[in-house]
Amino acid sequence: TKLESGTVTWESPSNIALVKYWGKKEHQIPANPSISFTLNNCKTTTTLTFSKKENTQHFSFEVFLDGEKKEEFKPKVETFFKRIESYLPFLTDYHFKIETSNTFPHSSGIASSASGMSALALCLMSVEKELSAIQDDSVESQKYFNQKASFLARLGSGSACRSIEGDLIVWGDSTTVEGSTDLFGVKYPYQVHDNFKDYQDTILLVDKGEKQVSSTVGHNLMHMHPYAENRFKQAHENLEKLKPILKSGDLDAFIAIIESEALTLHAMMMTSMPYFILMKPNTLKIINKIWRFRQDTGLHICFTLDAGANVHVLYPKKESKVILDFIKNELVAYCQNGQFICDQVGFGAKLL
Ligand code: PMV
Repeated sequence: TKLESGTVTWESPSNIALVKYWGKKEHQIPANPSISFTLNNCKTTTTLTFSKKENTQHFSFEVFLDGEKKEEFKPKVETFFKRIESYLPFLTDYHFKIETSNTFPHSSGIASSASGMSALALCLMSVEKELSAIQDDSVESQKYFNQKASFLARLGSGSACRSIEGDLIVWGDSTTVEGSTDLFGVKYPYQVHDNFKDYQDTILLVDKGEKQVSSTVGHNLMHMHPYAENRFKQAHENLEKLKPILKSGDLDAFIAIIESEALTLHAMMMTSMPYFILMKPNTLKIINKIWRFRQDTGLHICFTLDAGANVHVLYPKKESKVILDFIKNELVAYCQNGQFICDQVGFGAKLL
C-alpha cells in the first residue's frame, strides 16, 4: 500500500572546497577528487510535501522560495528529476510541493546549489524510506541513506554531494583516500589535528551580481583546456599532500595548498577558451590585505574562492579574536553593502 501524502523537512548546509572540483565527465563524474569543509551557518531548509497523483509518466511539482512561487527554478528541478528518476521510481507517483529558504541572503553570490540540491535529495530519500515496507534504523541503513542522498545530490549539482555529512568530505576516486569514490562524498577517514576543528570561514560578499559564466559552462570548458591534464594531476597531488598536513596540524603548509588551489581554479577560468574572470578588483584588494596582515602578524589567516568574486577567509578558532577584528576593521570595507557572513566547519544535514 502506497502512502497517500506526507511531508518532510531537511536542513542542509553549503560547503567550501579546499581542493577544488573543476571539470567533469558525463553523469556528473568529477575529473579529479576534491575535499571540502562542510559549513555550519550557510544552509537551505527545504520542506517537501507529497501527495499521490495518477501515474502519468510526467513529473508534477511546484517550487517556492521564501513563500514565493518560482517558475524560474522549475527547469533545474525538472533536469534533476530526469537524472534521478531511475533511482527513485516513485517520482511520477506523486505531486511535490518544494518549499525552500536559505539562511544567507539570496542572490548574495553564495552558491545555494550545494545546500539546495542536497536538501532536496535528502527529502526525497525520506520519502523513499517512508515508502519502504521495512523500517530499519541500523547503522548500515543509515549509511545507505546518506550515501544514496549524496549520490542523488551529485546529480543535482556536483559539489552538493559533499554537503550531506561533515566535517571534512572527500568526493572523487583517489588512491590517497581509502573508500573515496566518484559516485558520492565520503567522510575523510583519517585522523585530523585539533587545529582544524572549529575552523572559521568568514565569507566576504564582494559582488552579489549574477555570475557571467555558470559553473556548468566552466566545467565544460575544461574539456578542450590546454592545462586540464596537469590540473587534474595536481588536484590528486594536493589531496595527497594534505593528508600529512591534516594529521600534523601544519597550518603554514595547509595555507600554501589552499590558496594555491583557489588561484589555480581561477587560473583555469582565465586560460580557457573563451576565457573569463570572476574575481573583481576588491577580491584582489582583499587577497593582498590578507597576505600583508599574515606577514605582519604571523597569524594563520588565508583565503579561498569558489566560482565567484566572494572571498572565504579561513582561520583557526584559536586565532579568531584578532583576525575577526582585522576582518571587520580592514576587509569589510571591500564588501558590497558591508555584507559578510561568519561561518565555521559544520557536521552536515539535519532532519527537522
Ligand atoms: O557543484 P558545481 O557544479 O556548481 O561546481 C562547483 C565548483 C566549485 O565550487 C568552483 C569548486 C568546488 O569544488 O566546490
